[in-house]
Amino acid sequence: MIAGTETTATELSGMTYHLLKNPARMARLTKEIRTAFSSLEDINLVNIAQLEYLNAVIEEGLRIYPPVSVGLPRSVPEGGAKVGGMWLPGGTVVSLAQYAAYHSERNFKDPDSFVPERWMPEGQKEYGSDDARAFVPFLHGPRNCLGRNLAYHEMRLVLTSVLLNFDLELADDTVWTDQNVYLLWDKKPLMIKLTAVGK
Ligand code: HEM
Repeated sequence: MIAGTETTATELSGMTYHLLKNPARMARLTKEIRTAFSSLEDINLVNIAQLEYLNAVIEEGLRIYPPVSVGLPRSVPEGGAKVGGMWLPGGTVVSLAQYAAYHSERNFKDPDSFVPERWMPEGQKEYGSDDARAFVPFLHGPRNCLGRNLAYHEMRLVLTSVLLNFDLELADDTVWTDQNVYLLWDKKPLMIKLTAVGK
């Protein structure tokens, strides 16, 4: 239950906050959604997956605010192994700290900026040097996230449904991302004013 709900909800909150702090990008996403669909009945899991900007926003949301931001421990198998170019003895505990990797200039240009375009062909001139190999929000290997595909469907569906029907506005100027993390983020309330479209 925790794996499937807290992570997806966290990411949806984070993406919404970053979109609200970047009004031009919120406007672009809203336009993409409202051009593609005129009512909830038009939406299905296949056609929302075609929305290019929505997909880029989700990737960028997972990069700038990864739900599992700490490093989950893995132990080096018996006999040792080479990890990141270094030989480590069996039993050594290793991990990848996701937040640190995604906010390092060694992997991503302008790491603290919310730039969905970096995941699109149009952004490659400026962000082509980003090292997407460092980006594994669902981790890697046979025990990585079981719900990855469902999570993408859920995030697309929820964000599309909300932005199709409501205009969003931050209700206060709290720096929402100023949070502690204990495996998952200790989220504060994200206060948003919603206005029904056309009202
Ligand atoms: C944005 C949403 C999500 C993110 C970022 C995420 C991320 C992760 C991460 C990092 C792991 C640990 C993988 C590892 O140790 O290698 C994990 C495991 C897992 N996740 Fe997710 N997750 C998300 C959504 C979901 C959803 C929607 C479900 C199910 C409905 C789910 C079910 C699971 C399960 C069952 C595991 C344990 C897998 C195993 O140990 O074999 N997750 N997830």
